[in-house]
Amino acid sequence: MIPSSFIDEILARTDIVDVIEARVTLKKTGQNYSGLCPFHQEKSPSFSVSQEKQFYYCFGCQASGSAIKFLMEFDRMDFVTAIENLAARLGMVVPNEQSDDDRLSSMKRKQTLDVLTQAKDFYKQQLRNHPQRQRAVDYLKNRGLTGQIANRFEIGFAPPGWQNLSALFSEDAAQLQPWIAAGLMVENLDEDKRYDRFRDRIVFPIRDLRGRTIGFGGRVIGDGKPKYLNSPETTVFHKGRELYGLYEARRSQQKSARLLVVEGYMDVVALAQHGIEYAVATLGTSTSDEHIQRMYRQVSEIVFCFDGDGAGLRAAWKALLGVLPHLSDGRSARFMFLPEGHDPDSLVRKEGTERFGARIDGADDVSTWFFEKLGQDLQVDGLDPKSIAGRAALSKTAMPLINLMPEGVFRQLMIDALAELTGLARGRLEDVTIKYQLPAEPQSVFTDGPDELSEMESGEYDSEDPREVGPLDPALSLLILQPELALEFNIEDYQNIDKNMQDRLIKSIAVCVHEGSISAPGQILARFNGRDEQHCVKKAFEHKPLLRPEHLKDEYVGLMQRKFDQYRSSSARIQINQLLDKAPSQLTEDERALIRLHIGSID
Ligand code: UTP
Ligand code: MN
Repeated sequence: MIPSSFIDEILARTDIVDVIEARVTLKKTGQNYSGLCPFHQEKSPSFSVSQEKQFYYCFGCQASGSAIKFLMEFDRMDFVTAIENLAARLGMVVPNEQSDDDRLSSMKRKQTLDVLTQAKDFYKQQLRNHPQRQRAVDYLKNRGLTGQIANRFEIGFAPPGWQNLSALFSEDAAQLQPWIAAGLMVENLDEDKRYDRFRDRIVFPIRDLRGRTIGFGGRVIGDGKPKYLNSPETTVFHKGRELYGLYEARRSQQKSARLLVVEGYMDVVALAQHGIEYAVATLGTSTSDEHIQRMYRQVSEIVFCFDGDGAGLRAAWKALLGVLPHLSDGRSARFMFLPEGHDPDSLVRKEGTERFGARIDGADDVSTWFFEKLGQDLQVDGLDPKSIAGRAALSKTAMPLINLMPEGVFRQLMIDALAELTGLARGRLEDVTIKYQLPAEPQSVFTDGPDELSEMESGEYDSEDPREVGPLDPALSLLILQPELALEFNIEDYQNIDKNMQDRLIKSIAVCVHEGSISAPGQILARFNGRDEQHCVKKAFEHKPLLRPEHLKDEYVGLMQRKFDQYRSSSARIQINQLLDKAPSQLTEDERALIRLHIGSID
């Protein structure tokens, strides 16, 4: 955890203009600096940097934020790395502020990672030395894998038997705790027994981006159930986030600008065996929002590969809905479908690298598949997509989905394509937009929906994650973007808004702005770093407003006015309800007047 005072200091000593100028050509224009936006394709500059506010903003694609955010987006760094980077520029070292709890949990994490690495090395060694190794080696050879590829993925062999790990590493129950926490051993408390989770299986280490082993997938050798056994969720391993093969893909010499998302461990490995080194697999779950974010931090193109059957089509549609909110300019997503009865492993082995590669190159882009699918759905409903009713229906289903996309050229192109298909003018489509707009925070509607596997395996984790915040209050994100908006109201106006975390945040930011202790967005992020509200703030911080800056003020004032009214009417409602509980004879004249005044206006 980085102390917030340190982030404060970093932001105070960093000039955002220096940071951006090192990466983007800027010209001084009046108060601000401007240049070509690095976040979308453009010919004339709409990217502006305010030195005074230490803030950048693009009028074209609405990218915006502080120096930290710029590094996160431009250099694809995570938050901590961006801070480290800014600190290094200033010759500062990021201090590590830890409570005892933090220290304990980071010690446990380290222990967990440690035993996972030991296990990985042990399994690898068993593939070379165990008396029964030949069965495992033959199995891998039969599936077309060479020793070189097995090495690259550090594939191992968990030998038969229940006590291999304890026999090797420790017999002592207390010492085995890290092995249990790492999911490598299973504890039966009733019988006071501990045994190995992975027995007589080929094991595939799952690694994080730094190459550390965080879990395993274990395949039976030959037939048997379950076919794959995976590590359970642990402090270091979350199935809903991790992608098998991502580390190996990034380390590959190919340095591909795309990733290919497939279903299975063996698909990733077999593709690498055939020279396609950029495949990754989700771990038995559907593609989550977090997966998508993680991938776009590494590459600009994701190709999703699915079976050609009904389940494959459903999964693909779900992936498309999940990816739309992430399709800012410069990014792309494509979809490929395999012939029935094949998976990437079997297909690449059958037809070879070149033909499989041609399939990847020929994958449908988002818009092609999007409109094709919607057209098919219409036909299933008995509508001709070319008829008037069909075209109306198409615009109604397509527009809200297109609205999931961030503002930008890509989205405009989708609207153009829809206009072309339906023969409706763009203006008419925008009307449809307003009427059918989905509720705020569309991502949450589609992320990792209830399919059996993900519900079973990562559902628990997802729902219990305390960092999940509900839909983001647009007033809050506006305020974080332009803290001085707080000054549009008196400090007293904010007094009572405290019903939920986002409202309380609005209140405390507003108070700080009025007091003068906050004037720039970065300071808000710094102030709440490490606190419960941090995730809320970060989310607000990354939210892109769809309005131009000159309209933000009106929007904020309108939203807040409504909020204040809601609070007022709800407090009036409580008061009135109390009054209505009283016998009429006990009411004072003032109270009667109050009831008369409000009873009409309260719904
Ligand atoms: P598949 O059943 O399609 O297997 O599962 P596969 O990848 O083709 O495996 P091979 O080729 O027979 O070895 C796809 C993925 O679903 C998860 C695994 O991540 C697997 O790679 N899975 C499957 C499990 O977690 N458990 C299972 O029992 C089966
Ligand atoms: Mn397979």
